[in-house]
Amino acid sequence: MSEKEFSLKGLSFDKKDLKIISLDELGEKQICPGHIIFMSAKFGKPVLLLRAGDFVDSTFVEKYKAKGQKSFYILQVTNDEAIEKFESLWMKVKIAKFENESLLARKELLKYFSEAYWYNDSQSCVLDYYSACFKTFSRLSDEILVQLRETSNLLFERAIQVASLSAMVALAIGYTDFEVISDVFHVSLLLDFGLTGDKFSFHIAQACEKERAMPGEGIKYLKSVNAPQAEIKIFEQHPNLSHLNVFNRCYGAFYNLEMMKIISYHHENRDGSGLPNKFNFWGLADIDVVPGFVDAMVPHSEVIYQADNGGGTLKKLVDELESAKKLDILPVRRIYDRLTTVMSEALVSKEETKEEQTEEVAVVGDEPLVKFGS
Ligand SMILES: [Fe+2]
Repeated sequence: MSEKEFSLKGLSFDKKDLKIISLDELGEKQICPGHIIFMSAKFGKPVLLLRAGDFVDSTFVEKYKAKGQKSFYILQVTNDEAIEKFESLWMKVKIAKFENESLLARKELLKYFSEAYWYNDSQSCVLDYYSACFKTFSRLSDEILVQLRETSNLLFERAIQVASLSAMVALAIGYTDFEVISDVFHVSLLLDFGLTGDKFSFHIAQACEKERAMPGEGIKYLKSVNAPQAEIKIFEQHPNLSHLNVFNRCYGAFYNLEMMKIISYHHENRDGSGLPNKFNFWGLADIDVVPGFVDAMVPHSEVIYQADNGGGTLKKLVDELESAKKLDILPVRRIYDRLTTVMSEALVSKEETKEEQTEEVAVVGDEPLVKFGS
C-alpha cells in the first residue's frame, strides 16, 4: 500500500480523498458523516475538528459561521444510499399494519443488515446503520444529547452504537412493534445517563469498561485505586441514577413509560449478584434483557469509522461476548442463541437467493413473532 500524504489521529489520507462540505450542510446533520478537517493554509497541515460519528451541535456550526468560515474539508465515510436504505427499511417496520407485513419488513431488514454487519467480508460502513437509526428513532432533545456529548464524546458515540444495535437485536429476536423497538433504542442510549456531568471522571470511565469486560470488576477497580467512597457509590448506583434522571427529564421520548425501568437493571447478573439491586432476572421478558446484552458487548473505546471497515461488526461483538465466557453470568444466553440463529439464517437466505433467483427464499425466523407483553 502506498504511503498517504497525511497521517492524523489514526487516519491516513491524501488531499485528493477530501471533499468540501458547507457549514450549512454540516449543520443539517446530527451525526457527523465523516472526519471534518481544517487545512491550515499557513502550515499546510490538517487539523481534525470533528470525527465521523461525533454529534454535530448547532453551537459548533454557529461558532465557525461567525468567524466567516463557509466550509470545511471532509473525509467522508458514510454512504447516503445505505443510510436511506436502512431508513426506508425501518419505515416499513413502522408502517406495517398486519402480521404478514411486519414479518416481511423484518425479514427484509434482517437480510440487508446481516449482509453488511454479520457477514465478515462485506465492505460496509457501520456508521451508515447508526446514522439511519438515529434519524429513525431519536426523540431526544438537543439538550440531552449535548449533555451526553459534553460529558464525553466517547460516552455519546457508544450510546448511539448500543442503542442502534439494541434496536436490531430486538427485531432479530422477534419484536416488530416499532414503538417497543423505539423505546428499547432510547433505554439503551440512556443506560449511563446518570453518570453525565460532574459525576463523570477518569476513574468512572475506567470502571465502566472494566465492568463491561467482566461483571464485578468495575467496583473492584475503584476500590483498588482508592477511589473516594462517593465515587464508588455513584458507580454502584448509576443504573438507578440513570433511571431517575431519564424518568425526570426524558420521559417524552418514550411511548411506554414502563420501559424506562429496564435502565435500572442493565448491570444485573443472572444469579442476582449484579449491581445495584442484586435481584433475580427470571421474571423478565426477553426485551428487558436486550439493552444489557448489547451493553455488555460494546467496548468503551473509540471507533475510528472508515468507509469499508464495518463488515461483521455485530458478529465480532457477539463472538467476543461468547469467548469472554459472560453468557452464563449475565442473563443473556437466550438472546445470544436466538440472535445467532436468526442472523445465520438471514445470510443463508441471501446465498439461496443468489443461487436460485427464481425460488422463493425461506422466511427468516418464521416462527410466531414475539409480541410485547406476551
Ligand atoms: Fe452502565
